[in-house]
Amino acid sequence: MKIGRVTLSDRASGGIYEDRSGPEIERVLREQFAEEIEFECVLLPDEQAQIETALKNLCVNGCALVVTTGGTGPTPRDVTPEATRAVLEKELPGFGEVMRAVSFSKVPTAILSRATAGVRGKTLIVNLPGNPKAIAECLPPLMLAIAEAIDHIAGFRPKLK
Ligand code: MTE
Repeated sequence: MKIGRVTLSDRASGGIYEDRSGPEIERVLREQFAEEIEFECVLLPDEQAQIETALKNLCVNGCALVVTTGGTGPTPRDVTPEATRAVLEKELPGFGEVMRAVSFSKVPTAILSRATAGVRGKTLIVNLPGNPKAIAECLPPLMLAIAEAIDHIAGFRPKLK
């Protein structure tokens, strides 16, 4: 199964700090899926046009799933949900709702994330917050719905561990 992982951060893409969230997505998804996974990795600044182009390319390249991290907050540079919505054919708001709900009890600031998700062609796109710790908190509760959504849109059901 092909999966795109996209880190959106001005500072990580500018080399100011290391991207720890992208590799964390890879680690958690390898832990959750029983499938063999080929990852396509992207690291970009918080620029909406560049993000939209990258998401479209990952869909064309045959990713069943694209997971983004970062750029979901309230600052003027946070444009990941806008870029995601611009390329989605159908939005699936439940993914963001669950992420905020499961994280809120541990991290009250979780509700600052505007992360969303949805379908473009045969690809499921899911936004995650940028904090590396948020990846392991947010992804596991979404896995059943991720596998089900891929089954509906791509025609195969990825096996979970
Ligand atoms: N969710 C979890 N699980 N853990 C976190 O540390 N950080 C919050 C929120 N969601 C956080 C979280 C904060 S402080 C912000 S500003 C938003 O995610 C958006 O982060 P982003 O702009 O890096 O995507």
